[in-house]
Amino acid sequence: MLKVRGERDQVNVAKMWEAGQSHVFRFWDTLDDAQRRALLDQIDEIDLQLLAELTARIGEAPALRPLAPPRDVIRLPAAGACPPDREAARVAGEHAIATGKVAGLIVAGGQGSRLGFERPKGCFPIGPVTGRSLLQIFFEQARAVAERHRSSFPLYVMTSRRNHEQVRTFLVENEWFGMSPVEVVLFEQRELPVVDERGRLLLAEPWRIATSPDGHGGVIRALAESGALEDMARRGIELISYWQVDNPLVPVADPVFLGYLLERGDEAGAKVATKRAPEERVGVWAEIEGRLGVVEYSELRPQDAEARDESGSLRYRWANLAIHAFRRSFLERMAADPRLPFHLARKRVPHIDREGRLQRPEQPNGIKFETFIFDAIAQADGVTLLEVERAREFAPVKNASGEDSPETARRALTELYGRWLEAAGLAVPRDAEGRVSVPIEISPLTALGPDDLEGKPVSEIEFGSPVVL
Ligand code: UTP
Repeated sequence: MLKVRGERDQVNVAKMWEAGQSHVFRFWDTLDDAQRRALLDQIDEIDLQLLAELTARIGEAPALRPLAPPRDVIRLPAAGACPPDREAARVAGEHAIATGKVAGLIVAGGQGSRLGFERPKGCFPIGPVTGRSLLQIFFEQARAVAERHRSSFPLYVMTSRRNHEQVRTFLVENEWFGMSPVEVVLFEQRELPVVDERGRLLLAEPWRIATSPDGHGGVIRALAESGALEDMARRGIELISYWQVDNPLVPVADPVFLGYLLERGDEAGAKVATKRAPEERVGVWAEIEGRLGVVEYSELRPQDAEARDESGSLRYRWANLAIHAFRRSFLERMAADPRLPFHLARKRVPHIDREGRLQRPEQPNGIKFETFIFDAIAQADGVTLLEVERAREFAPVKNASGEDSPETARRALTELYGRWLEAAGLAVPRDAEGRVSVPIEISPLTALGPDDLEGKPVSEIEFGSPVVL
């Protein structure tokens, strides 16, 4: 076994041998002192017991748990209708925003491996005409929300080790897109080691074990450990509007959603929309052993995915859109014991081989361990499930092309803005298939929705070339 000096290092090295992970020292003889120190320090941080528990699960089939559809989903109102409870929710939500009790929380710690963009996903240019980045859309929405309510609306942005500095630099270079830097809190999530199918740690470099962020569920631990939760308390934040960095359609701090949660006395909420088809790759809300939660598409049995109810609709049709709301007190309760179940995600992980050569696999080769935010929501005392129209709120940028790609997200933005202009009385050109035929982009600072276009000089718009407002 390898000889190292310090007692702690000796123990750690012995533990690695015992755990069958001694191959991480394969290049030891070629490392300089600083590299050896870096490797030993990284090993010191690894929770080997947790790693053993997680690797023992590789190859295990997901547990089949009794399912039932969720019973309590707030449905979209019929066209033109505005039920009184919806209006009451809006008023409650707007009051919370106007009194400075609401903050935004963006999870942006993912690696965006499917998109294959070399910078953090939040820097991705998504505006259909100007190429506004995802982060710019959210920061400008946050500014517009604060301005409309003459209040403050701070933003908390979760990054991870590998993109934190890049995100920060991007925001500094763009002068925080007009937000005051004191209204923005960036915090990092933790990373966990990545293993191969046999549970062996992968090396990113001869002196570094490959790691990856611990999933969006890691936000609870990260909020607590970084002091961001305390910061929220200091600012008097009581409600948190949560979304993912890859959905440019998300309406930030939707007062109806926040208001329903408040009025119902729920601890957490999730927006849902009907699934497009049984095979669509989205998680669905269900009652799992009597508790509300999300079943991932990979864990939903084909017969459940296909099942229909008496009305002919999919029995499990409520797709999780990853747009949530939480009471701060709920996040604090969860943070006191942030133990969420781990999911195993098979992904393509660059690593070095036995000869020390960098490999960039074409197929998934590594297993990442991630926790998911919706598993926390499953532990909430009361969950608001609110149906929304997908075309208005959800167009994630996941893949480089095809479904859920920049192309589909830009199209969704143009369609949305086209509808706003039509609501304002304009004849927006459409092609033979009914799709808006000119790219349109409306700055969040100009309008957060169609109502904000009232009184704006939209009638002068000409559709001969791309439209920017
Ligand atoms: P995804 O699970 O779609 O992952 O994240 P991803 O990193 O964006 O992309 P792939 O799977 O590598 O291609 C959904 C959202 O959750 C965030 C992402 O930044 C994205 O906003 N996320 C994901 C985190 O903040 N941390 C994580 O550990 C994982």
